[in-house]
Amino acid sequence: MPRVTVLPHETLAPQGASFDAVPGRSLCQQLLDHGIDIEHACGMVAACTTCHVIVREGFGRLPPSSDEEDDMLDKAWGLTATSRLSCQVDPGATDLTVELPKYTINHARE
Ligand code: FES
Repeated sequence: MPRVTVLPHETLAPQGASFDAVPGRSLCQQLLDHGIDIEHACGMVAACTTCHVIVREGFGRLPPSSDEEDDMLDKAWGLTATSRLSCQVDPGATDLTVELPKYTINHARE
């Protein structure tokens, strides 16, 4: 079973977290399933950037992002070369280590 490791985040996961990933279920949904209250302002349809995560390990093994996701990601606070919108990521069979950015910007509200 693939494993997701979440690096410590001051408010969302002070101790960090680790859980078995369920293929076919978005990373955003699985973070919520495990008590990590990541924002998901647009309802997980790639129309905001609040579910932005930085993939520290496993990025290259994920299915590529769509143009729609990339367009939205360009607006994310703290964008990195390994950023993804967690609602668009299916962990599949990949072990991942993710970092939750310190801030988010809700473009869906603007
Ligand atoms: Fe809005 Fe993922 S929840 S882009």
